[in-house]
Amino acid sequence: MNKFKRFYIRTFGCQMNEHDSERVRDMFVQAGCTLTEKTENADVIIFNTCSVRKHAEDRVYGKVGTLAELKAKKPGLIIGIIGCMAEAQRHEIFARLPHVDFLCGPADLDRIPGIISKIRNGAGRIAYLEGYKSKRIPAFPEERNAGHAGFVKIMEGCDNFCSYCIVPYVRGRERSRLSKDILDEIKKLIESGVRKITLLGQNVNSYGKGLKEKIDFVELLTKIDKLTSLHPRGATPGVPPLGWRGDIKINFLTSHPKDASVELFKAMRDLRSVSKILHLPLQSGSDKILKRMNRKYTVAKYKKLIKSFRDIITDGNVSSDIIVGFPGEKEIDFKDTLNVVRELRFDAAYVFKYSPRSITKAAKFKDDVSLEEKEKRHALLLKLQRDISSSKKCQ
Ligand code: 5AD
Ligand code: SF4
Repeated sequence: MNKFKRFYIRTFGCQMNEHDSERVRDMFVQAGCTLTEKTENADVIIFNTCSVRKHAEDRVYGKVGTLAELKAKKPGLIIGIIGCMAEAQRHEIFARLPHVDFLCGPADLDRIPGIISKIRNGAGRIAYLEGYKSKRIPAFPEERNAGHAGFVKIMEGCDNFCSYCIVPYVRGRERSRLSKDILDEIKKLIESGVRKITLLGQNVNSYGKGLKEKIDFVELLTKIDKLTSLHPRGATPGVPPLGWRGDIKINFLTSHPKDASVELFKAMRDLRSVSKILHLPLQSGSDKILKRMNRKYTVAKYKKLIKSFRDIITDGNVSSDIIVGFPGEKEIDFKDTLNVVRELRFDAAYVFKYSPRSITKAAKFKDDVSLEEKEKRHALLLKLQRDISSSKKCQ
């Protein structure tokens, strides 16, 4: 990274992206570069982007578009777009944003320093993209600039191909990290003072699939719990305190209803470092729409799962994601969703207006719910959930 001193990084999208950005930031800091909050002061500007909805992409086009002037004044400036949108919009970005120097997909983020060096040596524009085929998980340098809370990626990619979702195409197919590597990383984070760890994966319940090692998600949680409970603070002189039960909390994101199980809920009840928070996206309360979404469960199965979670964990917390205005969603389907939300009383729910994504299967369906109707349904569902959330907080 010859001569480059200051960098700016901005993140759009999910926690996986936040985590990726943290790792990129730490990689630069370890190489002696300084983070700056202002694009005007930066030698390298990076946007880590999201493609899940069109709105997120539009914002990046807008923000990066405004940097053309800065680049004209400062020709040595390097601008990169990384993450999901780099993969999804590979052709459009270079055409629409001539001042962007490089693109880098989620699987290649550890290659950014090399990309920057090449550009500085006159290589011109570079695109490092693997998309659908990516099998890598980036190997970042070990040391991390950790705070109180930290993320640990346990797997990358997704094999579910929900018909609306671009993730399998931009983050590639599911691949899990070895449990030993995950445990080592957690141990180091705890030793450096991190107390709240969120395990990340698009579909954490299928952790272990495809690994030579025979392990599943519940077994991984059990090993992690054992690790966080092994060394009571100060028990062995000279051994760094690893924490004790109750001190360290392990969260995880995201679960899929087709794979979440009673065994998982029992583990959440019994493993004391594992928090009792379940994020279980419903997406729709209509079986017809769930089928078109390729979600592979029914509303009845989803309700049964929530019931068993609440029977097993009486003081748990459940949140969900819901899409309104999916192609073919009639008034009656939306009413079904309202009724399920009314019945299940989530602690929180994130509500999204359906956004067609090219490449996905649903992009071939007619986007037949008008924007006005999507907005109406979005507002209604949001209001219902807000009322439920606030009444639960007052209980
Ligand atoms: N349109 C709207 N919402 C979407 N999500 C994923 N893809 C789309 C799309 N094309 C939502 C889902 C998912 C959350 C992260 O984003 O609800 O759970
Ligand atoms: Fe997308 Fe479905 Fe995979 Fe979640 S489970 S990342 S919604 S394809």
